[in-house]
Amino acid sequence: MVESKKKAVVIGASSGIGEALAKALGRNGYEVGLAARRVELLRKLQKEIPSPSFIKRIDVGQPKEAMALLQELIRDLGGMDLIVLNSGINTRNVNLDWEGENETINVNVSGFAAMANVAVKHFLAQNSGHIVGISSIAALRGSATCPSYNASKAFVSNYLEGLRHRFSGKNIYVTDIRPGLVDTAMIRGQPGLFWVATAQGAAEQILQVIKKKKKVAYITARWRILAWLIKALPDWLYTLRYKRKI
Ligand SMILES: NC(=O)c1ccc[n+]([C@@H]2O[C@H](COP(=O)([O-])OP(=O)(O)OC[C@H]3O[C@@H](n4cnc5c(N)ncnc54)[C@H](OP(=O)(O)O)[C@@H]3O)[C@@H](O)[C@H]2O)c1
Repeated sequence: MVESKKKAVVIGASSGIGEALAKALGRNGYEVGLAARRVELLRKLQKEIPSPSFIKRIDVGQPKEAMALLQELIRDLGGMDLIVLNSGINTRNVNLDWEGENETINVNVSGFAAMANVAVKHFLAQNSGHIVGISSIAALRGSATCPSYNASKAFVSNYLEGLRHRFSGKNIYVTDIRPGLVDTAMIRGQPGLFWVATAQGAAEQILQVIKKKKKVAYITARWRILAWLIKALPDWLYTLRYKRKI
């Protein structure tokens, strides 16, 4: 019997971590469904992926439409075994303007949950699957400079934990990926960066985590140390880092 190829969808595949992960999945024999708003980048990416791939313009900021489009993409791909929920923005909304806060919540929270919901229904129906969410080390504590971003990532991690408990004992796996700093458009040009991974390096580590079906992983692995520290710091010490920024 010929074993059918594994099929993965990457939401937010047009650049950065999602693009690198889509390539890594393709190199590892996955047929891939690529989604994002910038379809010209998805078309370019498609040419660099050796395995069959399908693209769909999806704006997760329009959750209802995005859900229908994801269902279409799954049909085009002929099924789905793995989904990577990677789309995310950080508006660096230091002035806390509502437009920026709303956009972050819309994309990182509503958009994420809408895509997760389609995946949940699909995997429950076939009684197998793997949901991978790209959260962040930012999920661990609030941020005075971009509260909506950190809060949105706390939602992502918490939601994924809920799904993991819900599917415990089933053949459906849930992985929470918490990158530290990865060299992508999202962080480029910011001062004081350290332990910055390349998108390709991050993607390779994420792929290993996916293969092992881990529950939670920091990318790169050494960010686990900082995660421990961030959680342990008392408020007065944690807030010192913001004193000169606001
Ligand atoms: N870089 C880091 O240091 C870092 C650290 C921790 C966590 N993360 C997380 O990693 C994920 C990927 O970010 P990145 O660093 O790779 O940055 P990036 O290069 O800016 O990638 C963001 C991806 O999200 C997609 N996206 C944004 N808004 C979207 C929307 N409305 N609908 C559909 N897709 C949308 C983008 O596609 P389009 O613009 O084409 O739609 C793009 O593919 C994010 O969730 C981010 O929060 C990054």
